[in-house]
Amino acid sequence: MAPRPLIAGNWKMNGLLASEQELQKLIGGVAASDGSQREVLVCPPFTLLQAFAKRAAGSAVGIGAQDCHPNLSGAHTGDISAQMIKDVGGTSIIVGHSERRTDHGESSDLVKQKAKAAQDEGLTAIICVGETEAERDAGQAWSVVSDQVSKSLPSGSTASNTVIAYEPVWAIGTGRTPTIDDIAAMHDDLRTAMVGHLGDDGNSVRLLYGGSMKPGNATEILAVTNVNGGLVGGASLKAEDFLAIISAAS
Ligand code: 13P
Repeated sequence: MAPRPLIAGNWKMNGLLASEQELQKLIGGVAASDGSQREVLVCPPFTLLQAFAKRAAGSAVGIGAQDCHPNLSGAHTGDISAQMIKDVGGTSIIVGHSERRTDHGESSDLVKQKAKAAQDEGLTAIICVGETEAERDAGQAWSVVSDQVSKSLPSGSTASNTVIAYEPVWAIGTGRTPTIDDIAAMHDDLRTAMVGHLGDDGNSVRLLYGGSMKPGNATEILAVTNVNGGLVGGASLKAEDFLAIISAAS
């Protein structure tokens, strides 16, 4: 059976205290729709994590974070640990987003340590992978992505504590997306790789697509075999757009 879809919103460095109203609209919309088919997650910046988790408590919207430090605590100025995220009600952590791999030089080895930290706290690690446009043009999309997966996936990963998000770097925030055939091919290869890594459990790992997912293209993308949801940036900031994408997964 195909895994239950997950629609996750990555708010990136957006949102102020007043954005709780947008979350409230989302919670209301999700409650009003049929939730049996999918799971919904919002990952706000750290400054909003606790307020959002409190606001979403008891609702069908989960709250997650966008990064964590590999360690539980200690002398790491400016960092936030998986334990802290769990402490304020986070259930999932995005790790290895391409913006962190690029802006902060994060290696797959570091991403693996962060994913492990999340999993060790009982949280779900959403591990992001994806090729640049130059890599795709050079015919290296799969070799880059498979290498990122192998090096970022901690031992002890399971379908319950791990989600893989395929986000082609060139599709993020650009309005461009791969063709449906290219998405399907990548996700089929990812499925085979996950079965290779985890055995039969790899069939149940959720494989999200991310990169310019919008109400206008979500239905087609989410219908692809082995696409088990989306990781949505810009279109997750407005409840109305995010709800339209969520309903495309239902
Ligand atoms: P956009 O949906 O804004 O392209 O961002 C995708 C993304 O990076 C989600 O993590």
